[in-house]
Amino acid sequence: MVGKLYLKIVPLIFAIHISTTRCDAAEPWQISFQDPATPLIEGIINLHHDLMFFLILILTLVSWLLFRTVYSFHYKKSPTPSNSAHGTMVEVVWTITPSIVLIFMAIPSFALLYSMDEVVEPAVTVKAVGHQWYWSYEYPDYSNEDGEIINFDSYIVPEEDLQLGQLRLLEVDNRLVVPTNTHIRVVVTGADVIHSWAVPSLGVKCDGIPGRLNQTSLFIKREGVYYGQCSELCGVNHGFMPIAVEAVPLKNYVEWVQNKLAEE
Ligand code: CUA
Repeated sequence: MVGKLYLKIVPLIFAIHISTTRCDAAEPWQISFQDPATPLIEGIINLHHDLMFFLILILTLVSWLLFRTVYSFHYKKSPTPSNSAHGTMVEVVWTITPSIVLIFMAIPSFALLYSMDEVVEPAVTVKAVGHQWYWSYEYPDYSNEDGEIINFDSYIVPEEDLQLGQLRLLEVDNRLVVPTNTHIRVVVTGADVIHSWAVPSLGVKCDGIPGRLNQTSLFIKREGVYYGQCSELCGVNHGFMPIAVEAVPLKNYVEWVQNKLAEE
């Protein structure tokens, strides 16, 4: 009895916890964006809202026209159909109006697109390499006396090894640790086939292509653990190579780097 109650209460507490804290991972029945943590994803969400404004306007107008057409031109309502085939004025209006709407959508869209491409002078560079089927990370900025750099593999935590509170299919054994409020460059590549390094809360989705280096930038505004998944179909375990990014204050990051370098 006590055991059964426990089984009900723990998920409930967990559900309340998830719904009241920041959402930096996908959640069941999620229908909107995860909470933003970088200026990039804030821009993406704002663009989405801008576009939704036009979308709702167009949907309303088109539905209204459709309804009016079906209703007013029913054969019982107008037995003798109008024989007008065209009108210059209406054609000018329905050509010009959508073009203006398109311009209003294109301007913020291009502004965002080009600003996302901008890599601000980075203070930290990390390299993410996609493998079948795990990620490996390198920190080429630092090395110890033996000239070794920090590099490690990041594997999924299998379902049977999950601790209470760890997220199924999202938790990894070694998270990518990065500092907050710092310009970070992420260099992404693939070791075998194309993978894609994607973290929704950070607004990043970058293909890892063998023989090529792609780069994207991060500026994480708050501490947290951000979860993502490989987003390019890369083989049978494509769904089992998640990404976990742990953003910590700069001071803790420096400590982490020192400890890691000592371990290497
Ligand atoms: Cu790696 Cu999909």
